[in-house]
Amino acid sequence: MDRGPAMYALTPSMLTGVTQLDAEHQDLVTVINRIAGAEERHDSSEVLTHLRHFRDELAGHFRHEEEYLGLLSYPARDAHAKHHAETISALERIADELADSVIDLGGIAAECFYELLGTVLTMDMRFLDWHQEKKRAAG
Ligand SMILES: [Fe+2]
Ligand SMILES: [Fe+2]
Repeated sequence: MDRGPAMYALTPSMLTGVTQLDAEHQDLVTVINRIAGAEERHDSSEVLTHLRHFRDELAGHFRHEEEYLGLLSYPARDAHAKHHAETISALERIADELADSVIDLGGIAAECFYELLGTVLTMDMRFLDWHQEKKRAAG
């Protein structure tokens, strides 16, 4: 049997319980799997295309999430948005390095999933915990 490309998936601990956010996080994982597939085919230009798509999807998601955090009056919204911006910069650096052949294929999808998306979701859990606590306090 063919092993097929590596497939990343959100684990239960990565779910926020906010339908739209979870759907967008899932879409991001789908793009990471396209990056993984292109990496397995050793197709740098396809990896780059998907990486740039990932960047655009991530930027759109961050915009939505920052609006949502504004509606909630989340006190750490600015710090959260700053982390979003840093994540976009890190992703652009990876794409630029791949375009300049500074890095090789093989660990890019894994880095996008475990390092970038993993940290992004860990940060999201902070505002979800804050929101739960606020709702509890309001009774
Ligand atoms: Fe976030
Ligand atoms: Fe998010």
